Amino acid sequence: GLPARVRIHEVGARDGLQNEQGVVPTEVKAEFVRRLAGAGLTTIEATSFVHPKWVPQLADAERLFPLVRDLEGVRLPVLVPNERGLDRALALGAREVAVFASATESFAKANLNRTVDEALAMFAPVVTRAVEHGLTVRGYLSMCFGDPWEGPVPVDQVVAVCRRLKDMGCDELSLGDTIGVATPGHVGRLLTALNEAGVPTDTLAVHFHDTYGQALANTLTALRHGVTTVDASAGGLGGCPYAKSATGNLATEDLVWMLHGLGIDTGVDLGRLTATSVWLAGQLGRPSPSRTVRALAGA
Ligand code: HMG
Ligand code: MG
Repeated sequence: GLPARVRIHEVGARDGLQNEQGVVPTEVKAEFVRRLAGAGLTTIEATSFVHPKWVPQLADAERLFPLVRDLEGVRLPVLVPNERGLDRALALGAREVAVFASATESFAKANLNRTVDEALAMFAPVVTRAVEHGLTVRGYLSMCFGDPWEGPVPVDQVVAVCRRLKDMGCDELSLGDTIGVATPGHVGRLLTALNEAGVPTDTLAVHFHDTYGQALANTLTALRHGVTTVDASAGGLGGCPYAKSATGNLATEDLVWMLHGLGIDTGVDLGRLTATSVWLAGQLGRPSPSRTVRALAGA
């Protein structure tokens, strides 16, 4: 069966804008987050407290977060790679954080300058301290299906890192198809293996990229396996600098179109969301890649 309701974890302001060529003005980012909230999104990833040299697009986190943190009824998770990042997030009153691990050594090195083990060792005190502070902690896991340097990623390898993130104390795990190569059979095999390894499906989220046009098929497969939290990016913003194609995250509008068509509640007003993505595309100076945005906006 399918769930009656799906929670969308909106990543456009973080995952989307971190991949923009230019740096978007802080006030535009704040307005983007406010409009996303106005469109009914209730979990909006706001920014990252990472090294500003690694991600200059999000170097304004200290200025941005206070502009949005008082939004009513909205969860505003932020990414923190290490204790330094957690300190910065706590100082601003963040209530939710996310660490971001990799299932592969190559991406751990490229993204975190660490081996998989070293990265997990870096996250352990972050998660412990965040939990002590009563924060909700998400653990991202990148390259769950394929890796640009290593090729297909074995299911057992992914399950092993998931278990370690869970044992560390993460409340939720987000399974990332960072380069968009997953297909529905592979998604089903990973979710079945995680279930057999004792990772509760209701603590899982899926994070698909539409590089090969598979994101919605993969999402539907995940829903049939009991997943009810889905990551998506308004207007399809973003991508992965390590993927060959420019196509990025699953567009929130495309996801909402499918879910509402299935009679699944999201709380999102698709018209307002589309208007938000059209407005942001104007700010960025190029059209949204989302098929649904283009169809509805007549662009
Ligand atoms: P490093 O160079 O190994 O850092 O980077 P370090 O620990 O050796 O520290 C070096 C310097 O950085 C020190 O300063 C630290 O204080 C400073 P110095 O003493 O030289 O003046 N520093 C910091 N400054 C500010 N905030 C911090 C921080 N940490 C250290 N938090 C590090 C290691 C993890 C910091 C770096 O690799 C980094 O910031 N990486 C972030 C990469 C990133 O944000 N990637 C994108 C997110 S993941 C993603 O998008 C995938 C996802 O969407 C899912 C999917 O699709 O797969 C989630
Ligand atoms: Mg992503």
